[in-house]
Amino acid sequence: MTLQSNIDTLVTIFGGSGFLGRHVVRALAKRGYRIRVAVRRPDLAGHLQPLGRVGQIHAVQANVRYSRSVAAAARDADVVINLVGILFERGRQRFDAVQTFGAEAIALAAAAYGARMVHVSALGADEASSSHYARSKAMGEKAVLAAVPSAIVLRPSVMFGPEDDFFNRFAALARLSPVLPLIGGGHTRFQPVFVGDAATAIADAVEGKARAGATYELGGPEVRSFRQLMEFVLATIERRRLLAPIPFALARIQAQFLQYLPTPLLTPDQVELLKHDNIVSAAAEREGRTLKGLGIRPTAVEAIVPSYLWRFRKTGQFRGRVA
Ligand SMILES: NC(=O)c1ccc[n+]([C@@H]2O[C@H](COP(=O)([O-])OP(=O)(O)OC[C@H]3O[C@@H](n4cnc5c(N)ncnc54)[C@H](OP(=O)(O)O)[C@@H]3O)[C@@H](O)[C@H]2O)c1
Repeated sequence: MTLQSNIDTLVTIFGGSGFLGRHVVRALAKRGYRIRVAVRRPDLAGHLQPLGRVGQIHAVQANVRYSRSVAAAARDADVVINLVGILFERGRQRFDAVQTFGAEAIALAAAAYGARMVHVSALGADEASSSHYARSKAMGEKAVLAAVPSAIVLRPSVMFGPEDDFFNRFAALARLSPVLPLIGGGHTRFQPVFVGDAATAIADAVEGKARAGATYELGGPEVRSFRQLMEFVLATIERRRLLAPIPFALARIQAQFLQYLPTPLLTPDQVELLKHDNIVSAAAEREGRTLKGLGIRPTAVEAIVPSYLWRFRKTGQFRGRVA
């Protein structure tokens, strides 16, 4: 498809102002699509404008908890992408309201306008999970596929990139605290995926390169335990810290208090999530429902993370000792 032909394709991106959102906007702008970013505060989405040409990216107001605003944002779109998600509940931002009913509202609007849909969920989505986050994600997927059976669902593992919430958070914690907690002993396994690779997968799905109605699982090239990831963070920021295993039960009690911080360090629901590995399933590997299956070679954490974690080193970007 040429850049010129894509300019007639309107893509509405819900959650386009977020961490993954800005990478998706950039990937689609490069491929020449016309982009409508649906966000709660369009006045705060100015950072997206330089990612495209003049007039290519347009921000409109929408809150997925209000179906009329969702329908207005999806009007006449050829493709609708849902990137809306929350990590903890606050006020009216509940997991069910945002990740189940919000996803359903977007899918119903896509169906009403005959738009194709790409929906981002999360690895670990499971209706039977003890985590409310994971249950609401699974129910969101189900509602999306009921309304738009051809929707492409993408489930990433934890994503990394300059503005990520994972490596930056633990590097920041290591700067302040002499101890890093290993919840449940730090045995939970992750498959961190580069946000740029997830964005490429979404852009490929928009371009029709993914299987309609399929659920893809997005993981990086390596599986690492939480302990290994903490060791990697400490080595990268050149700091020595005690890694302290904490049983799940104790972490849950701590989380009861930590959840009330303005941006919670840990919630009881996140402790539940940590009880399960967050990796690509054997079935997805076998059936090619992966980055590799889409022809994308996953980027390693070593290739990207040091390029933004250096600011947590004592000496910043400079070497501690020179010859
Ligand atoms: N980051 C990860 O490691 C990771 C891992 C697995 C899955 N995911 C999933 O990937 C997707 C994108 O994640 P992300 O890291 O980019 O999250 P993010 O940076 O927090 O972005 C989430 C987006 O959702 C929007 N949003 C929240 N509530 C909304 C509402 N009621 N109505 C409309 N928009 C709303 C936010 O806009 P506001 O500015 O208005 O709040 C923001 O643009 C989410 O579905 C997430 O669950 C992320």
